[in-house]
Amino acid sequence: MSGTQSLIDALHALGDEALSAVSDASGPGELETVRVRYLGRKEGRISGVLRRVGEIPAEDRPALGAEANRVKAALEEALDARAGEFAGTGSGNEAGPAAPVRDRTGSSPAGDGGQGPGTRRGVLDLTLPGRTTFPGGRHPITLVVDELWEIFRGMGFTRARGPEAETEWYNFEALNTPLDHPAADEQDTLYLKGGNLLRSHTSPVQVRVMQDHEPPIRILAPGMVYRRDTYDPTHAPAFLQLEGLVVDEGISFVDLKATLAEFARRYWGPGTQIRFRPSFFPFTEPSAEVDVKRVYTDEDGVERETDWLEIMGAGMVDPAVFEACGIDPERYTGFAFGMGPGRIGMLKYGIPDIRAFFENDVRFLSQFADR
Ligand code: DAH
Repeated sequence: MSGTQSLIDALHALGDEALSAVSDASGPGELETVRVRYLGRKEGRISGVLRRVGEIPAEDRPALGAEANRVKAALEEALDARAGEFAGTGSGNEAGPAAPVRDRTGSSPAGDGGQGPGTRRGVLDLTLPGRTTFPGGRHPITLVVDELWEIFRGMGFTRARGPEAETEWYNFEALNTPLDHPAADEQDTLYLKGGNLLRSHTSPVQVRVMQDHEPPIRILAPGMVYRRDTYDPTHAPAFLQLEGLVVDEGISFVDLKATLAEFARRYWGPGTQIRFRPSFFPFTEPSAEVDVKRVYTDEDGVERETDWLEIMGAGMVDPAVFEACGIDPERYTGFAFGMGPGRIGMLKYGIPDIRAFFENDVRFLSQFADR
């Protein structure tokens, strides 16, 4: 052990000697000389001590190695710090090209800009401009979905979700839409390898929920949908939909109307009116397009009303859909609706072009940050 101890002592002595050589160095060239003298692989004095490792018992060798690494690391750190000082103060005025200075971080020692003592590593410069942080915010469509969700949650709805890559069966056939039906053409979408497709609406979530759950069912399913559409002010090939489904014994059109009227009044205000226009969807019978008209008093106390705005499709679940999902159509009835929160957001915030939602322009998005 005494041989071991004397080697360790020799290491420490070398380390101390090297550290004072570092602080005495007057420029980068001298620093490099110190580095080679102590840390150099062949001639370096620390390596010289390590070569004597054969003199000590094998079980002590790892301890010596560890000690040598500690001394080397301390020395490298001191060399780097001193090199940083030279780079920072510009006092590396020795003759000849500046010697390369090692830097374990891989960046050049002057990489901090070399603008003066204040930029040295680890020194705080209070004169530098501050870094702004952008806290971000919810996307305007997310804001609308969250508001809509709060209202439906208050009426006992649960959130549901389904996959964006769907089979033809879920997207069309289970929803009473044969693949050669014109309604399937209207919702043409992207097909994936293996025959699946990107869902063209959120209605397949209805099917998945009904397969997995016994009525009573009351769900709301937001999600992205995809269509073969041009990208213009009123269309996007990918957009968000919000699907609703209610199934129980004794559900009638009255429930559909009351639920949607209550929703509209909570979202747009107590004076809001709704109207149903007959329509067609393969998965509902009867089907309707639902419009709202806002009736309100403006800031000047004047009574105002908007035009009718179409906000969603809706209807009573077709018995064929219940059958596809394994639900008894003799026992249960239900209603469904599907709306586009993007469209609702455009109306609410007066956004004329749907593409604003997708272009990630911070000037547009930041307007919604605090709402
Ligand atoms: N899936 C329809 C579409 O994307 C929207 C829709 C209409 C959904 C009526 C429904 C519904 O649930 O009952 O055009």
